[in-house]
Amino acid sequence: MKKDWTTKLIHSDARVPEGFRSLATPTYRGSTTLFSDAGKVDDNWNQYEVGYTYGLYGTPTTLELAARICELEGGFRTLITPGGQCAISTIHFAYLKSGDHILVPESVYGPNRKLVRFVLRRFGVETTFYSPTIGRGIEALFQPNTRMVWCESPGSITMEVQDVPAIAEVAHARGALVVMDNTWAAGVLFDALAHGVDITMQAVTKYIGGHSDLLLGAITVKDEAQWNVLGEHQQVLGGSASPDDCSLALRGMKTMAVRLKAIEASALQVAKWLEARPEVERVLHPALPSCPGHEIWKRDFLGSSGLFSVVLKPGVTKQQVLDFVNALELFEIGYSWGGFASLAVAYDFTGFKGRPDYGCRIVRFHVGLEKTEDLMADLEQGLTKLRN
Ligand SMILES: Cc1ncc(COP(=O)(O)O)c(C=O)c1O
Repeated sequence: MKKDWTTKLIHSDARVPEGFRSLATPTYRGSTTLFSDAGKVDDNWNQYEVGYTYGLYGTPTTLELAARICELEGGFRTLITPGGQCAISTIHFAYLKSGDHILVPESVYGPNRKLVRFVLRRFGVETTFYSPTIGRGIEALFQPNTRMVWCESPGSITMEVQDVPAIAEVAHARGALVVMDNTWAAGVLFDALAHGVDITMQAVTKYIGGHSDLLLGAITVKDEAQWNVLGEHQQVLGGSASPDDCSLALRGMKTMAVRLKAIEASALQVAKWLEARPEVERVLHPALPSCPGHEIWKRDFLGSSGLFSVVLKPGVTKQQVLDFVNALELFEIGYSWGGFASLAVAYDFTGFKGRPDYGCRIVRFHVGLEKTEDLMADLEQGLTKLRN
C-alpha cells in the first residue's frame, strides 16, 4: 500500500542484507511483543512453552543469559531479575505464605535480613536466625511450619562456610526448601544444586557482570514445579531485567573464567600476606585455616573468589580503622564487589546480636585485577595508620 512519509517512519519497507554472523549475542530490546494472529494473543509468562508474548518475561537476550547460567548451574531453568536483591525478594514472595516459618543465617546479606525482619514479618512469615556454623544442629530450630532454610556460604562479611549438605539433609527430612545465595562462588565454584540446594540465586552484578556497571540477579530452580511457581510470581511482581544489562552480562561471562582465576590467585596472596602482618589478628578467607568452616570449603568448593575480611588486633580504635581504609590509594571504598577494581569497606559489629565479637575491627576486601605487589604495597602504607 502507498504510505505517507510519517507512516514510513513507523512501518518501513527498508531492508538490510541477511546472513550477518557474529560472536556477540544481539541485544533485543522490546516491551511490545508482536503476535502473528489475533486469536493467539495470550498473556502467558512461560515463553518456553508458548513463545514470546511480552517484554516483561524476557527477550532472546535475557533468555540467552538465563539459559547460559542455567547450563553452568545444572538447573531446570533460570530466571533473570533486575538485581541480586530482587532475586532474593522474588524467591521469598514466590515460595512463602503467611503462617510459614523460615531459618536464615545470622551472616546473611544485610538487605535480605532486613526483608525478612521488617517486610516478611508484616506478611505473617516468622524468621529464626541461626548460627552459620550450626551444621546438622539446625534440626533443633525446626518448627512444624518451617518451610524454608536460607543458606549463604561463605556468609556476608564474616565469611563462615556453611555445611550445606548437612543442613539440606535435615531440611528435606522436614519437608523444607533449601535456598542458597551462591554469589561469592559466582554460581560455579560451589555446585549448589548438587549439594542439596533446591533453589539457588546469585547477584549477576558481581562476577558474571564483572565490570561494576550493571545490576542483575539470577534464580535457578531444579524442576518444573518450582519453575511454574517462580514464573507466575515474576509475572505479578513485575521484576524485569534490562536486555542491555543482560547483553553486558553475556559479554562479562565470556571472560569470567580468566578473571576468576587471576582474582583467586591474587586474593590468596594478599590474604596470606595480611595474615603475617602484626596488625592483623585473623584473616577470614575460606581458603585459609583461620576461616570458620575452612574444612567444609576444602570439601565442597572448587576454588575461591576475591572477597574476604580481616580482623585487626584488639586495641585499634574505630577512627584508626577508618583512617587505614581512607589511606589506601588503590583499594577504593565501595560496596558492590566482583569487578576489576579492588575495594575495602570497614564494618562495625559492636552490639550486633548473633555476629562474632569483632567490634569495629573488621575490614572487608575485594581483590581485583591490579598487580598483586602494588596492592600489598598499598596495604603496607595504609597499615601505618594503625600504629599508635
Ligand atoms: C551475597 C550477596 N547477595 C546479594 C547481593 C545483592 O545483589 P545486588 O547488588 O545485585 O542487588 C549482594 C550485593 O552486594 C551480595 O553481596
